[in-house]
Amino acid sequence: AWRPERAAEIIAQGAGAPGAALPILHALQEAFGHVPEAAVPMLADALNLTRAEVHGVVSFYHDFRRAPPGRHVLRLCRAEACQSMGAEALAAQAVLQVGWGQTSADHAVTLEPVYCLGLCAVAPAGLIDGAPVGRLDSARLQALIDEARV
Ligand code: FES
Repeated sequence: AWRPERAAEIIAQGAGAPGAALPILHALQEAFGHVPEAAVPMLADALNLTRAEVHGVVSFYHDFRRAPPGRHVLRLCRAEACQSMGAEALAAQAVLQVGWGQTSADHAVTLEPVYCLGLCAVAPAGLIDGAPVGRLDSARLQALIDEARV
């Protein structure tokens, strides 16, 4: 849950260092599961940036979420080796009925892109809650999602 005093603490801790924005954003996401909108002006003030600049950083890096994730996070690799093995088609299929960065209606699974996990040999690859999965096909993907929904 959002706790402004926790966010203020995180920001104060990181604000002195050069290039503070990224580590602070990571720490905020770690604490809250995403970068809460309310933290953006706080961070902008602390670092003497505009809100637009902070938003720019958040949207530039694929790692940052702007909304809380579902109970599980499925990351599918969109880099070349995985693309050529059909990762995109897997993601596009209706298993989750969500787009990149979105969460299924039952809040079970958030679908996020990653760009090469070093698992190209077992493409198409991904991560479910940080655990690597390879040689994905629609049956395996469906099984992972079914498991996540339990
Ligand atoms: Fe997907 Fe390398 S391209 S793991």
